[in-house]
Amino acid sequence: MKEKVNDRTDQHGGSLENRCRFALEIVEAIVNKIGADRVGTRLSPFADYMESGDSNPRALGLYMAESLNKYDIAYCHIVEPRMETIGVEVECPESLVPLRKAFKCTFLVAGGYDRGDGNNTLLEDRADLVVYGRLFLANLDLPNQFDLDAPLNKYKRETFYISNHLVGYTDYPFLETTKDH
Ligand SMILES: Cc1cc2nc3c(=O)[nH]c(=O)nc-3n(C[C@H](O)[C@H](O)[C@H](O)COP(=O)(O)O)c2cc1C
Repeated sequence: MKEKVNDRTDQHGGSLENRCRFALEIVEAIVNKIGADRVGTRLSPFADYMESGDSNPRALGLYMAESLNKYDIAYCHIVEPRMETIGVEVECPESLVPLRKAFKCTFLVAGGYDRGDGNNTLLEDRADLVVYGRLFLANLDLPNQFDLDAPLNKYKRETFYISNHLVGYTDYPFLETTKDH
């Protein structure tokens, strides 16, 4: 979808419509196969990891949100444009609100949310659901902990993306254990 990695010259490259065509074709094919209520998408229009950037991510996100309306899928999940560490305020001129307004079904957001921020987003109707990544990884009973407004385990960045399945994903203490320490 992003112009910096799409160098095709056929109907799947070039214009915004062409670059998004493949993703929409996939959505359509899966919807036809298993039903729209079992299909969701996750998009990171603002991310430029692995040089996968676009000069106009806002237009890309909007085009995808509007185009996905046609399929009536279960949800559209978009990653926030802000690149921030939880708890640290970083000014970001971009917002997902235009995409939220453009997409007619369930809208999910993720990226740098903590408990209060997530609650505010729901209260202000900026999303239907807030998704947590790193906090959930380090707090396997995160909903419980949010309910109680309990102190959270800090995630360990050094154990992200490692192949040892015993370390970094399942060895964070649960709330009960945390309390004992
Ligand atoms: C260890 C780890 C693995 C991840 N793997 C993926 C992935 O495979 N696909 C994806 O879209 N995002 C992936 N993410 C990003 C998260 O889904 C989420 O968007 C990101 O962590 C921002 O949310 P957070 O601030 O709540 O952590 C991963 C994040 C972490 C920490």
